[in-house]
Amino acid sequence: MALDVSRREIVQYPDPVLRTVARPVDVIDDAVRAVAARMIELMHDADGAGLAAPQVGLSWRMFVTRASEDHTDRVHVNPDLVDLGGDMDVRPEGCLSLPGITLDIRRPTNAVLTCLDLDGRSITLTATDLEARVWQHELDHINGVLIIDKMTPMDRIANRRLLKELEVAAGRGP
Ligand code: NI
Repeated sequence: MALDVSRREIVQYPDPVLRTVARPVDVIDDAVRAVAARMIELMHDADGAGLAAPQVGLSWRMFVTRASEDHTDRVHVNPDLVDLGGDMDVRPEGCLSLPGITLDIRRPTNAVLTCLDLDGRSITLTATDLEARVWQHELDHINGVLIIDKMTPMDRIANRRLLKELEVAAGRGP
């Protein structure tokens, strides 16, 4: 598959790729590394803390983050959350594929993640607070889950117009 990596942009709700369970990355080659670099660039441009491959139209189990305390860019290939714990915490979350929408989302504060790095090495990482939250948000993405799936009835009412506008902008609305 020819990937014109430099032209990839962030796709927005309701693009169906955001609802697809992504498939594992079989081989970490130059194409995968180029996509990861473009994702990091887009994450920075949009001032985001993380970005998942489906958000650039690729149904791959991969995401990038810059949510650690030192703001390092990280690439996580075939990630798996192997443990979640700590307290439950409610914080506002946005999503680069849902511009204008911020929701209070309840998630555990501590996480353990296994994944491959871009050299194919298996790594295990632990995080708390923001980084643990971003991992959970991005892992949701590669499973086709969005923050709007966690809306309360009040959230649904408050965000109905914004969601409709995104649907209309995509040509899928009435
Ligand atoms: Ni998101």
